[in-house]
Amino acid sequence: MDGDELVRAHYSQAEEGKRLHETPNGVLERLRTWDLFERSLPAHGVVYDVGGGAGAHSAWLADRGYLVELFDPVPRHVSEATAVSQARSPGRRFVVEQGDARSIPRGDGSADVVLMLGPLYHLVETSERRQALIEARRLLKPGGLLVAAGISRFAWLMDAYRKGVADSAEIQASITYNLRTGRSNADPAPGAFWAYFHRPQELTGEITAAGFENVAIAGVEGFAWMLPDLNAILDSPASAEALLDQLRTVESEPSIVGASAHLLAQGVKPV
Ligand SMILES: C[S@@+](CC[C@H](N)C(=O)[O-])C[C@H]1O[C@@H](n2cnc3c(N)ncnc32)[C@H](O)[C@@H]1O
Repeated sequence: MDGDELVRAHYSQAEEGKRLHETPNGVLERLRTWDLFERSLPAHGVVYDVGGGAGAHSAWLADRGYLVELFDPVPRHVSEATAVSQARSPGRRFVVEQGDARSIPRGDGSADVVLMLGPLYHLVETSERRQALIEARRLLKPGGLLVAAGISRFAWLMDAYRKGVADSAEIQASITYNLRTGRSNADPAPGAFWAYFHRPQELTGEITAAGFENVAIAGVEGFAWMLPDLNAILDSPASAEALLDQLRTVESEPSIVGASAHLLAQGVKPV
């Protein structure tokens, strides 16, 4: 199976539509992503949500008045996102279309914002990620904003210990392979999670090399995805607000960014 087939096979089994709503880590990722959007995105404009999955971010942005178009290569995501959009009032719908980050059927300079929250870690080869980044630059207006997610190189190491599964030779070998190569699997079986895990400076380097300026990176969940009592913290509005405040304070601190499971980088297309 090639990378595209592995990604499709994985998401034909995974419940992507529920991910950001049903687990404490999903809720934290969603709240922090929206917090970063609120501080980074222009007040209005056209947003392409490339790799938008079942449409959680597209729906949130459409509620805030953005003109949103979602693209995703996985048929299941296209039909789930279409259903999400159709269930909304006409003024809050978003366009949904099948599409791959390396080739989006829209004109040059047609977007104010391009989101890539997924493609850059599912495209495992450097050349594929570069193609997606060059395509994002083509789509953006001069001065337009790219927001791109990565998975931290150290996420599987931390996750395996967090979940208490690290105590086996097989998992130890997979952690060692993942830390060394960035790849999620040496020999992926159909349905496996197929992805590339970035060091923070590697992700910003790829975005800079693709011709973006003012490139910056933040940890999405920070350290908080490893907290055993995260659910209780999020259940208390005051505790949740305090945690979000602290995460905001340290989100760009270089010495802690790589401890986050997800990284959110941004860059501006030169004017
Ligand atoms: C973990 S999901 C994230 C969905 C959503 N963006 C979010 O942040 O919740 C990763 C998404 O990337 C999409 N994806 C994978 N490879 C892609 C590619 N080459 N082009 C565009 N999207 C891709 C997947 O289909 C999936 O919807």
